[in-house]
Amino acid sequence: MKFGTSLITLFGFCMLGSIFFTTAWAKTRNHTFIVQETPCTRLCHTKNILTVNGQFPGPTIYAWKGDTVIVKVINHAKKNITLHWHGVAQPRNPWTDGPEYITQCPIQPGANFTQQIQLTDEEGTLWWHAHKDFDLNTVHGLLIVYPKQGTTYPFNKPHKEFPLILGEWWKKDVNSLLEEALQSGGEVPASDANTINGQPGDFLPCSKNYTVKVHVEHGKSYLLRLINAGLTNGYFLAIAKHNLTVVGTDGSYTKPYATDLVYIAPGQTMDVLIKANQFQNSSSHPRYYIVARPYVGNTRVDYDGNKTTAILEYETNYTTIPARPLLSSLPAIGDTDAVAKFADGLRSLADKDHPIDVPKTINEHMYITVSINDVPCPPNKTCKDPLGKKYAASLNNVSFEFPQINILHAYYNSIPGVYTTNFPDKPTYYFNFTSDDIPTDLILTKKATKLKMLNYNTTVEIVFQGTNIGIGENHPMHLHGQSFYVVGRGTGNFDKKKDPLTYNLVDPPMESTVGVPKNGWATIRFRAVNPGVWYMHCHVDRHMEWGMDLVFITKNGKSADAKMLPPPKDMPPC
Ligand code: C2O
Ligand code: CU
Repeated sequence: MKFGTSLITLFGFCMLGSIFFTTAWAKTRNHTFIVQETPCTRLCHTKNILTVNGQFPGPTIYAWKGDTVIVKVINHAKKNITLHWHGVAQPRNPWTDGPEYITQCPIQPGANFTQQIQLTDEEGTLWWHAHKDFDLNTVHGLLIVYPKQGTTYPFNKPHKEFPLILGEWWKKDVNSLLEEALQSGGEVPASDANTINGQPGDFLPCSKNYTVKVHVEHGKSYLLRLINAGLTNGYFLAIAKHNLTVVGTDGSYTKPYATDLVYIAPGQTMDVLIKANQFQNSSSHPRYYIVARPYVGNTRVDYDGNKTTAILEYETNYTTIPARPLLSSLPAIGDTDAVAKFADGLRSLADKDHPIDVPKTINEHMYITVSINDVPCPPNKTCKDPLGKKYAASLNNVSFEFPQINILHAYYNSIPGVYTTNFPDKPTYYFNFTSDDIPTDLILTKKATKLKMLNYNTTVEIVFQGTNIGIGENHPMHLHGQSFYVVGRGTGNFDKKKDPLTYNLVDPPMESTVGVPKNGWATIRFRAVNPGVWYMHCHVDRHMEWGMDLVFITKNGKSADAKMLPPPKDMPPC
């Protein structure tokens, strides 16, 4: 198996390949992704891990703004799979978006499905991942979208770029851990290590020799393409003695934002520039740790606070072994204020070439509580959550139940009985959502498949309200089918008189994942102009499995180009 260290060399090679073969700037790029069980050579207690084309992390897709990428997904594994192109709007084409039982039935062993990824406004760093069970843990990779030919970045062209894929590693098979947790109603155990490009790095002995290295030359600038492919952890990341300048997130550019650390939520992506301005002569230090450590608001599980590291190494001509890299410190694992402070600095570019269009009048106001709950323990069973019940999660106290056939198919073919369209726009009861002692009877929720219908061209505002039911935690809510503007964020209960006055309607960042602060709120706005069936869920995978999900259906508009496309012929059958 190729581990992460080879990713950088791989990148150099692929770039060359792409430029060579695309002199005509062909707009369609074809890939074959074979999902397979791949022997795991190190760090594993299991024999195999699930990969694409035998690579972990998976292959990078290189594309240019507006391209069409066609991926033939072949399932050579022994289990059902699906793949999702995270952050791509997929205009009018929800069919190849990927989430299991939302837009498709899974690709069965031996079957294949050709998925079309239609790029439009996206530019920067995105990613792809499996969208079933915990498969995404090892089935993920970068999707890089370069500026269109003849245009360039809104910043000085970096000398080179490097991927930094943050993730988590379990020694045991992740899907059996999920299965156990869903059966017993208890927690999924914390991961055994945090990783950068598949490697825990220098602080774990097993990985020391495989620590990822990023080679730089003094005076040049570099673009780091960050994604958080973790199943549970957010991450703080810093590089000793180097400032970071965030220039994009979730496939949209931001105003250059200089900071000494970044915070990246599960599912998010970030484009970060660094200037190699440290090592100049033999008396200064040539090696610096790139270090990440988790942020987790949940204090109930004993999360692994271990650092994961890569090394930023300046080119030198000495032969002596250089000293240990310098290391910077990072906020503590539960530092919610550091998360808020970082998020406040993100602003969209909002200039002539990158105009923004924040909805000012809102047709659909939604106020949605985001909670960890319980459902009753089935009779004659013992359940393992702290109250002897089963963990669940909900939005407005509706815990999403996955249907047996996919929602898109049911909607398109008017098949009744698969879902209802009565997802509530408001919580049923109002109480102090973020209080320290919430009455225990409020913890119970119910399973149902309730959707929200949107008319074409409707403007939507969602205020997500984090709650302290069960336990307060940061929930990275991700929306498929379109990005949104994050116009506000705050602590405690949302105040509908005062808080809207603080909204940023001038240059809010455009994202597709928003971290709803632990015991706080976040507001997003978007215009529903993408007809289709679009999933919204917490990107902490076990919360998604527990029901922290909602499906939007955006109806067709009147004109021909405002209607959903027909399904491809090779849609996987249920
Ligand atoms: Cu990153 Cu529903 O996805
Ligand atoms: Cu969550």
